[in-house]
Amino acid sequence: MSKIYPVPAAFAARARVRKDDYARLYAESVRDPAGFWAGVAKRLDWIRAPTRIKDVSFDARDLHIRWYEDGVLNVAANCLDRHLAARGDKTAIIFEGDDPAVSRRISYRELHAEVCRFANALKHLGVRRGDRVAIYMPMIPEAAMAMLACARIGAIHSVVFGGFSPDSLAGRIADSGCKLVVTADEGVRGGRKIPLKANVDEALTRPGTTSVETVIVVRHTGGGIAMQAPRDRWWHVLMEGQAADCPPEPMGAEDPLFILYTSGSTGKPKGVLHTSGGYLVFVSYTHECVFDLREDDVYWCTADVGWVTGHSYVVYGPLANGATTVMFEGVPNYPDASRFWQVIDKHAVTLFYTAPTAIRALMREGEAPVKKASRASLRLLGTVGEPINPEAWEWYHRVVGDGRCPIVDTWWQTETGGILISALPGAIDQKPSSATLPFFGVKPAIVDTDGHVKEGACEGNLVLTDSWPGQMRTVYGDHQRFIDTYFKTYPGMYFTGDGARRDEDGYYWITGRVDDVINVAGHRLGTAEVESALVAHPKVAEAAVVGCPHDVKGQGIYAYVTLKVGVQPSDALRKELIEWVRKEISPIATPDYLQWAPSLPKTRSGKIMRRILRKIAENQPDQLGDTSTLADPSVVQNLVGERLVK
Ligand code: WT7
Repeated sequence: MSKIYPVPAAFAARARVRKDDYARLYAESVRDPAGFWAGVAKRLDWIRAPTRIKDVSFDARDLHIRWYEDGVLNVAANCLDRHLAARGDKTAIIFEGDDPAVSRRISYRELHAEVCRFANALKHLGVRRGDRVAIYMPMIPEAAMAMLACARIGAIHSVVFGGFSPDSLAGRIADSGCKLVVTADEGVRGGRKIPLKANVDEALTRPGTTSVETVIVVRHTGGGIAMQAPRDRWWHVLMEGQAADCPPEPMGAEDPLFILYTSGSTGKPKGVLHTSGGYLVFVSYTHECVFDLREDDVYWCTADVGWVTGHSYVVYGPLANGATTVMFEGVPNYPDASRFWQVIDKHAVTLFYTAPTAIRALMREGEAPVKKASRASLRLLGTVGEPINPEAWEWYHRVVGDGRCPIVDTWWQTETGGILISALPGAIDQKPSSATLPFFGVKPAIVDTDGHVKEGACEGNLVLTDSWPGQMRTVYGDHQRFIDTYFKTYPGMYFTGDGARRDEDGYYWITGRVDDVINVAGHRLGTAEVESALVAHPKVAEAAVVGCPHDVKGQGIYAYVTLKVGVQPSDALRKELIEWVRKEISPIATPDYLQWAPSLPKTRSGKIMRRILRKIAENQPDQLGDTSTLADPSVVQNLVGERLVK
């Protein structure tokens, strides 16, 4: 039996969604989805209110997902203009720099003006409705401004995480044919500089990137960079003389808002496409309900805008709700392990949302750095990105939240746009490590490997049997891949790629990915991506990559490498290959272990048996399972004998 943390009394009384509301509203939302979501859509300002609410089929032969189809709106106007009358002077963004001496508050009025000016600058450079714009930026307000400016003129942004390599950036630019790149001279994290502009320069030498006409550069650190005329333009120079008003482009609810690349189990990263109306309804409503948002809250989500959490719950959700959102440029342990808690005190943060990996890393530093700050302003804590182990949950609750703040463990994905399974803090009792119950309108189910829906308490693969407004609509440029990836495994259902357990109270417990995706410190990576980076090295013949348990990161990366004939393994070569992967993809993808594999375990038809490699990496050599289909069983014994330990 797991421990239950009941809704705190202080929450129960004042919450946005109360105890007796949840069951009633949930039942209503799944009985009449169109009626329910028609009501929720009224929270936005529509240029033309939608009358056709939901038109969805999960049948692979006729797949379509449309919400609010005939509605017309502008996302940026909903995040800015409509707040000006009542909240013009309210702080929209609190920027907290990597350097603790640097912070800045931007009001809704100021943010509106800056976004309009940048939108005008984009138009002046020839960016039109439907054009793609890459944003490769540090966590600075200009990143949010660039996103909102795109939304204002109907351009589609593609934010690429600033930690990605020139090659990764180039691949994403090429896939969606971006016309313009917005970047900064350099980023800074934990006192270390990241050469963003130099990376863009390198990316644009790669094939397939000639669609880029202009690079806009924010002067952030003032570090020396090369500007190439006429391609490169300074942000501050472009902004001079731009008008501070720019009429918002009327967009159809189903017009694209952004593309965000994410890793899958096969091939290159997929361009997940989200559209305007349903996405904004969903992220603003989930943000309000899950975080129990009130007018005077100071909300801080530590995610980078390079990930979906940064899109939905740093920028779009909070701003659509007229909230004050913190943008943090730095890292949890700089200048020291007290940084998060110092920032909470400094800006009187009330709602705090971060990743389990950060909690586990800070937990290692003990309670003293936490106790250095009062954290008196906090009233709610949240987690996202990976399963949180009970020890980390308890520590977050007892030490960070002083036992008074409820925790919302929010399960969702880049594809889902927003939170699908989470406690509502005033309505749903928490159980440590369980994401608890589905949000309104969300219909999860657990299926066995044949796709049969299981009832009651059970374990299996997690699917969603109906749509929600924030669902992705397609893979950019490859609709067939969208259908094949998500709707073919279990016909008529959206397959999440996650395993889950449901307990006797109907609570969901996410057990992790069941496909070849690994979750390293909350960052999603395809094992195939790391493998193709490794085999791109001239000395590597073959590689297989699996996840392995890691105390802080949740999962680490375990790589098996077969060298080309005649190449001798050495520690120097191991280091070289690890460094190679960092450079090819990103430091996130750095292998934790790299084991030489004279050969890999394969079936007689030549398929690598990853299941076996996973067990070896997990140090469970006695649980290899059926090995009778191996072409050469001695291969496995060799690998077990040579397993790496740190
Ligand atoms: C995968 C999605 C959700 C935005 C950030 C990650 C895992 C996410 C939880 C959670 C257990 C979680 C799943 C999911 N995941 N949240 N609360 N508990 N697992 O988005 O990069 O698209 O990754 O993250 O495995 O499928 P993403």
